[in-house]
Amino acid sequence: MKDSSKSNLIVPSEDELIEKAIANALELLDIPYKYKDKDFDNFNIAKLTNKNPDLIIADFQKYAKNYIKNQRTPNWLVLKGSSGSGKTHLIIATLKESLSQAVAHNIRNNPNKHDRAYQNLARDFIFTTCGNLFQEIKNSYDCDDINERDVLERYKNCRMLVLDDLGTEQTSKWFQERLFHILDYRYGEMLPIIITTNLTTQELLNHVGERTFKRIIENADKGNNLYKLKTYNPRQNAS
Ligand SMILES: Nc1ncnc2c1ncn2[C@@H]1O[C@H](COP(=O)(O)OP(=O)(O)OP(=O)(O)O)[C@@H](O)[C@H]1O
Ligand SMILES: [Mg+2]
Repeated sequence: MKDSSKSNLIVPSEDELIEKAIANALELLDIPYKYKDKDFDNFNIAKLTNKNPDLIIADFQKYAKNYIKNQRTPNWLVLKGSSGSGKTHLIIATLKESLSQAVAHNIRNNPNKHDRAYQNLARDFIFTTCGNLFQEIKNSYDCDDINERDVLERYKNCRMLVLDDLGTEQTSKWFQERLFHILDYRYGEMLPIIITTNLTTQELLNHVGERTFKRIIENADKGNNLYKLKTYNPRQNAS
């Protein structure tokens, strides 16, 4: 008798596998609910008053599309802008696209391991606010299960770190030392970081300290990866 089960088996193509794995990975990505559906397609450049807003968005898209190619290159991004200008939206879009590129790359290179590959990847693309990161470190002081070193290691070693809202927390020597520890490690290993802030450049320098500021500027492609979203409220657009 003919084995009909085999002839009915539909083997998905590599592209279909990639599409499914990306959808699953994005589902696993730990981002705030409000931003789950935010991407480049629903980012409206008409809301920006920058000279060439389309070029800014194109740069962010290019950054994400080149995620694999740009590993181990000066690959940090800094996005400034006033509250509500769309910074978090844009970096979530960038994070999602970078993760998608990593998943596709993994499947193309390890076609039999696609399931586990994307699950681990999603955990390794971290979005956090700067305030939450430092609260996590403080919480570890009163916790038996996790210590400060464990927290720092996670943020030092993850594949991509998105640090949203740098500058909303109180600055101190304690804060600056830990921030430098994480950023300096990632600087040395050439691991990507995307930073957003409401601060002006001078305020950022005062907030993070000179050592960290120099690292940020140098690794953000000597300043070429420093962007600012400008919106219609001129009071909020100080540089
Ligand atoms: N250009 C835009 N196109 C589409 N939606 C936008 C745009 N700018 C802002 N938004 C929407 O407005 C809301 C606020 O934007 P977002 O949270 O990204 O601002 P932000 O710059 O991160 O502000 P904050 O500094 O307060 O964190 C979000 O829902 C976001 O999707
Ligand atoms: Mg934000």
